[in-house]
Amino acid sequence: MNKELTVAIDGPAGAGKSTVAKIVADKLEYIYIDTGAMYRALTLKALQEDIDLTNKADLVKIAQQAKISFSKNNKQERILLDQQDVTSQIRTKRVNNHVSLVAKVAGVRKELVKAQRKLATCCGVVMDGRDIGTVVLPNADVKIFLTASVEERTTRRFQQLKDKGVNVNFAELKEEIIKRDQLDRNREVGPLQKADDAVEIDTTDLDKKDVINKIISICQEV
Ligand code: DC
Repeated sequence: MNKELTVAIDGPAGAGKSTVAKIVADKLEYIYIDTGAMYRALTLKALQEDIDLTNKADLVKIAQQAKISFSKNNKQERILLDQQDVTSQIRTKRVNNHVSLVAKVAGVRKELVKAQRKLATCCGVVMDGRDIGTVVLPNADVKIFLTASVEERTTRRFQQLKDKGVNVNFAELKEEIIKRDQLDRNREVGPLQKADDAVEIDTTDLDKKDVINKIISICQEV
């Protein structure tokens, strides 16, 4: 590859975006930006500050004030909110269940999109989310839309949580994923949507390695 690329990876929850995006970024020696983590960090801040999540003006205010940044520690991605490491705190059920409410507010998205574009100006970047290829980086060099069946996505999340020692109910987790997908697909601003020029990869029956190799080979063709 003779230039540093911007790679946009979108798709629904549990399609394997972050796992794949992280490894692709490592292999290409690019930075990785998890935009879902930014919406989660903001949701955490709103919950910590007891903000009414239906109050759009207050949510926009905290989006303008929050300092969200990424760092890498022992090869692990960390997310900082107002200088505090909140990497684990943004993955709780409470944040899962409220993040869509925050992510649907136009003014919040405007602030985070601005921050995401700024983060992408420095160098080669792999960014994952829901609206990267359509809104955040419409001129990305490579656009990927990752999908997988709901059953498969639930199984992966279930396993991930189990590996972390978190026991959840499979049926409840599936419902949670379906609900979050519906909210993400149907919101008015920046909905989950495949960009017209994105390559769709259905990962249901694919090995992680195959998905990574496919994306790398698409990057090499640019
Ligand atoms: O990828 P994730 O599950 O960590 O994302 C958390 C939430 O943030 C999810 O409900 C969708 C939302 N999100 C978004 O609206 N736009 C993005 N670019 C990334 C995530």
